[in-house]
Amino acid sequence: MDFADFIIEGAARRVSPSRGEIAPAFVIVAEGVGDMQAREALLDRAMGPKRRKKSSEKLRRGRRPSEGLAFVALGASGAVVGTVRLWDVTLGEGGPAALLLGPLAVEPGLKSGGIGSALMWHAIGEAARLGHGAILLVGDAPYYGRFGFSADRTGSLAMPGPYERHRLLALELKDGSLDGAAGTIKAAGRKVKALDFVA
Ligand SMILES: CC(C)(COP(=O)(O)OP(=O)(O)OC[C@H]1O[C@@H](n2cnc3c(N)ncnc32)[C@H](O)[C@@H]1OP(=O)(O)O)[C@@H](O)C(=O)NCCC(=O)NCCS
Repeated sequence: MDFADFIIEGAARRVSPSRGEIAPAFVIVAEGVGDMQAREALLDRAMGPKRRKKSSEKLRRGRRPSEGLAFVALGASGAVVGTVRLWDVTLGEGGPAALLLGPLAVEPGLKSGGIGSALMWHAIGEAARLGHGAILLVGDAPYYGRFGFSADRTGSLAMPGPYERHRLLALELKDGSLDGAAGTIKAAGRKVKALDFVA
């Protein structure tokens, strides 16, 4: 399957009852430095303080997201209402490169409006367009299965800390990119520099 076909521009639209016109309910854009505070506040609201204790955090801490693979959903007022980022990892010592997706989060009051799906399809499409071979994540298969993720190819892989094995899911963007992948997933992203926080 060619996931580049699924790139979403603009996402869902709604009718404005007062003006009778079609207006975008949200748009998905590349995350900017100015979105950082709003993104962190949204993650706290959506996931709570324990989010920083997840094993995935070990693969993200002190790293920058993969080039061109951090997105926010902006609501009609311009507020950040969704976030997703992808991170460079290697699969085992000296193993193939891949991406780790997460966290994915949507403003709690706006759940089930399609923002999460739009962020996912956009992220998958952009990762494919940029030539990446596979995306991994730790999450619920009943949700991520709709985007093609499954635990079928992750049995020989491990997170660098506690996690539930059946929740380690993967999606191949290029057929065979997870062939023989085994071992503990390692951070491989660009390191954060102090200047990254200057707007
Ligand atoms: C998971 C999340 C990002 C989904 O965003 P969203 O904008 O509500 O998603 P969508 O509108 O695209 O899809 C909603 C559908 O997914 C379902 N869904 C949401 N989370 C689910 C889960 N964990 N397992 C199974 N289905 C789930 C909803 O029930 C809904 O089903 P419906 O379409 O039949 O009504 C959002 O619920 C969220 O921010 N949750 C808190 C943070 C979180 O858990 N992030 C994932 C970490 S792995």
